[in-house]
Amino acid sequence: MTWLRTTLLAFSLSAPALGQVFDLSQLSWTLKNQNGSIAIPGSLPSQAHLDLLKAGIITEPLLGINDYTQRWIIYDNWTYTADLSSVINGQSTNSGSSDTTLLVFYGIDTVANITFAGHPVAWVDNQFKRYVFDVSGYLESPAGDDKNLTIALESAWYYGLNVTSRPDAEYFPNNANATTSDDYEVPSVRQWIRKIDDDFGWDWGPAFVPTGVHKPAYLVTLANASNPTSPSTPTPEQPFPSTPGTGSPYIGETIFLDETSVDIYKVGQNGTAPPDESADWVLNVTFGLRSTTAYQNPTVTLSLPELELTSQPLDLDAIPAQVGDVTYRSVNWTIPDAKPERWYPADLGTPKLYNLTVTFTLSGSSSSSSSDNATTLTQTIRTGFRTIFLAQTAYSDTDIAQRGITPGDQWHFAINGQPFYAKGTNIIPFDPFYSRISPAKARWVLESAVASGQNMLRVWGGGAYQPSDAQTDGGVYDFYSACDELGILAWSELIFSDTLYPINDWYLENVEGEVRQNVRRVNRHPSNVQWAGGNEIEGIVMQANTSLANGTHYLDEFVALFQDYLHDIVVSETKSVPYTDCSTTHGVLSLDPYVLRFANGTEGYIYGNSERYNYDPTQAFNLSTYPVSRFVNEFGFHSLPSFYSWEEVLESPDDFSLNSTVVMSRDHHPPAGNLSFPNPNAPQGQYQMSSAVELWLPTPNTSDSNQTFAQWCYSTQVFQSMNMIAEIAWYRRGAGLGENNLGSLVWQLNDIWQGVSWSAIEYSGRWKVLNYGLAGVYAPVIVSPFWFPENETLTVLATSDRWESVNASAQMTWYDWSGKVLNSTTRSVEIPSLNNSLVFEGTGLSSILPQGANASDVWLLLNVTATVDNKTVTNEQYFTPASLADAKLVDPQISMTSSSNLTFTLSAKGGVAPWTWIDHPAGTVGYFVDAATERPSNGFYLIPGLDRTLQFMMSKETSSNSIPEPSDFVVRSLWNNTHA
Ligand SMILES: *[C@@H]1O[C@H](CO)[C@@H](O)[C@H](O)[C@H]1NC(C)=O
Ligand SMILES: *[C@@H]1O[C@H](CO)[C@@H](O)[C@H](O)[C@H]1NC(C)=O
Ligand SMILES: *[C@@H]1O[C@H](CO)[C@@H](O)[C@H](O)[C@H]1NC(C)=O
Repeated sequence: MTWLRTTLLAFSLSAPALGQVFDLSQLSWTLKNQNGSIAIPGSLPSQAHLDLLKAGIITEPLLGINDYTQRWIIYDNWTYTADLSSVINGQSTNSGSSDTTLLVFYGIDTVANITFAGHPVAWVDNQFKRYVFDVSGYLESPAGDDKNLTIALESAWYYGLNVTSRPDAEYFPNNANATTSDDYEVPSVRQWIRKIDDDFGWDWGPAFVPTGVHKPAYLVTLANASNPTSPSTPTPEQPFPSTPGTGSPYIGETIFLDETSVDIYKVGQNGTAPPDESADWVLNVTFGLRSTTAYQNPTVTLSLPELELTSQPLDLDAIPAQVGDVTYRSVNWTIPDAKPERWYPADLGTPKLYNLTVTFTLSGSSSSSSSDNATTLTQTIRTGFRTIFLAQTAYSDTDIAQRGITPGDQWHFAINGQPFYAKGTNIIPFDPFYSRISPAKARWVLESAVASGQNMLRVWGGGAYQPSDAQTDGGVYDFYSACDELGILAWSELIFSDTLYPINDWYLENVEGEVRQNVRRVNRHPSNVQWAGGNEIEGIVMQANTSLANGTHYLDEFVALFQDYLHDIVVSETKSVPYTDCSTTHGVLSLDPYVLRFANGTEGYIYGNSERYNYDPTQAFNLSTYPVSRFVNEFGFHSLPSFYSWEEVLESPDDFSLNSTVVMSRDHHPPAGNLSFPNPNAPQGQYQMSSAVELWLPTPNTSDSNQTFAQWCYSTQVFQSMNMIAEIAWYRRGAGLGENNLGSLVWQLNDIWQGVSWSAIEYSGRWKVLNYGLAGVYAPVIVSPFWFPENETLTVLATSDRWESVNASAQMTWYDWSGKVLNSTTRSVEIPSLNNSLVFEGTGLSSILPQGANASDVWLLLNVTATVDNKTVTNEQYFTPASLADAKLVDPQISMTSSSNLTFTLSAKGGVAPWTWIDHPAGTVGYFVDAATERPSNGFYLIPGLDRTLQFMMSKETSSNSIPEPSDFVVRSLWNNTHA
């Protein structure tokens, strides 16, 4: 998004003056603790830990047990201060005292007093808000000798304790049947602070409770009405950010454009019924601005140059001279439905984007001597055209009778009028320290999601609102813009998670500004599919309602906040995307008015969406424990990160074992619930992983302790991937069954540190086995085995999520572990849209297995090939009739040869190598692509005689080692669990 300022009068003699933008990162900052014993250079944007690290006071917070030893930072109060003298001096030479100066913060983490040249400016308490303060005149008349800008931050922990100890603070009780507030590590305060929830710890991450000015901040100087040609252009020695549009806020000489919301929807669209797809498009553009000058006749002209469409000049209401508060002005422009090409996620079409040009013409300045001297500001906004609808009303009798749908309510998304299968994951913050998130790393995670066939990411409500654009809103990276470009949908959430929330006027008002700013900011992104009120709170309050004395009080509060208050705010700011109360919900009784269903339903009907977590490994592949649901928005199993990730953080050779103190300390599941360290519950979480491996895979045990640990890391990942593949196959199969399941989002995509977690991608960007598993099971056409042990039935289905029916060829080949083919059958099937076709069904193990075979001696290779969008797509899956722990494996004697360009050929010279896996060396980030299928591939059954050639596609931007040695790539398989 850029603002370019031009004069309307072509013959204007003088170059137009811009307001001045001073990037506060240019000041020389000092960071101090409360008693002044620490005073070190600070920076902005930054957080205290990062400046302490830079000053050598602490080591990297993610090393070893630093999450414990650095807790003292949480208990102190940190102050950032910087001398403004240089700005004051610069200012006085450049402009008169009649200028207006705005202090703009794109994010402060979190509770702080701000003073500017000795004048108190504000007390702030919301990490998710942009703050703009009028500090005009303060520079010229500092109070006392104080010429500093000071941000005095209060420990979020102490702030929380102070708030919760107030007599009027609401207390949320717990009992054996209801936990109203989940504590992870730093307990009991997070619901009182508008700060990233997992800053206080979560079951996959540390609790650093960071503090600082985590996003950019600026001083913006505007000319006052009486002095419209001032301020002059900055003198060269003044450190200004580069030209407008490359990181600076958008300003004109007299006007600061705080925000521009672009909401694109169909005439008549309101989220309560499917939009009329043939109706015209409405572009609703809302400006938030602050102007030193009143303009009587402002207009806006919108155009889409690529479509050769330009609006008439659209009149805005007069703009008052007002800088302390934002002035909002809106225009609507209607264009024909057929003109723009629609935006689709990459797996369903093309993510087509357009440049929308917004030209602002300011005229009728009351004070201007030459009143016909209009000026224009031009902004270019990247956006797209799509409708998104969340179907939540009852299935019709026709659907029930003719399609065999189980009665109840729909719960799925439709894009551009068409229901589709949502395939994806949940994302969490990319780093414990927001200000150091690297744009390249965040982008890599998104590219990895797209490469593995995902089309939707759920932006989990316990983390941060994701930024839209690195160039605007002070974002440090560009999450939503990257989603728009890459073609992946983003399910957005307001930041509320796993606790009940207090309701009082002060809190509600605080939240209102936060929600309005963020909804408006994200509006222009076609990738956004909805706003959910928060994460998992509906389930918590339903339990409280029935289990706690006075339970209805909590339900009433939930209804007031999530059904009514936040709903009304969100729908007043967007018509293009729906609002739902919660990530996991029983749905609605009515959309208009918005009334939640909660427990009101008919037995046997299906409502809302669901989750699955089951840590009993005996149930991992028991299909009857998988939800039969319209949409499963969270399900997962945890695993260890790779040996390479451990190498980044473990400091002693003794630490490299499953039960070392440091490794255990990085398992936060189940969470401690308090400050105990190491997590006293870690043995339970470690046992869930190790017992799953022991039950389903050969137990790692070799003479080399590092190898054994590396095989544990890999084996927990193999189990995780097997478990997720089985669940996803089940949910995708549901698209063609009574549940009409149209979504599965795995918990979780990325990591916040190097520790035990549910992720598919490690902190460094390294793919776990699971991300390759997703690349397989999220292919458009898949083949999957379903084993029902209760009646010894094996069903094999081919499943497609395409919008047209697909002709496919499915193959089933039984092998023994030496690699001998026992029998093979091929079948052609036609798979209807979003449905399944039966490939095989058999009952009785003896009739399913090849003649006379023993279950632990054989396995089944499943392949499917289909032509989709004129391309051949393939998928390969495996079925073992017995646990791999009991498989009679034969030494595979894998040979790996490398050729130029990091291409590797793997060949099994002995037996079959289940879960063959190549590791790329430390410091490299990338993924392997199979030369034959051109899809990401790693973690497969390598069969003698069927060599695999894989190419390593390296991410140069995120690799610290950009020229790896082919000899540093290592290969392993389950054989190596027990053989050194
Ligand atoms: C930080 O401020 C809190 C008050 O919010 C106070 O209780 C605490 O002692 C302070 N910490 C230090 C180290 O001074
Ligand atoms: C003003 O800021 C400077 C660092 O930029 C610091 O050294 C000095 O102590 C500050 N003065 C006050 C009064 O905080
Ligand atoms: C912020 O200012 C208020 C009022 O002056 C004061 O009570 C409070 O202690 C200050 N907090 C910090 C962190 O300086």
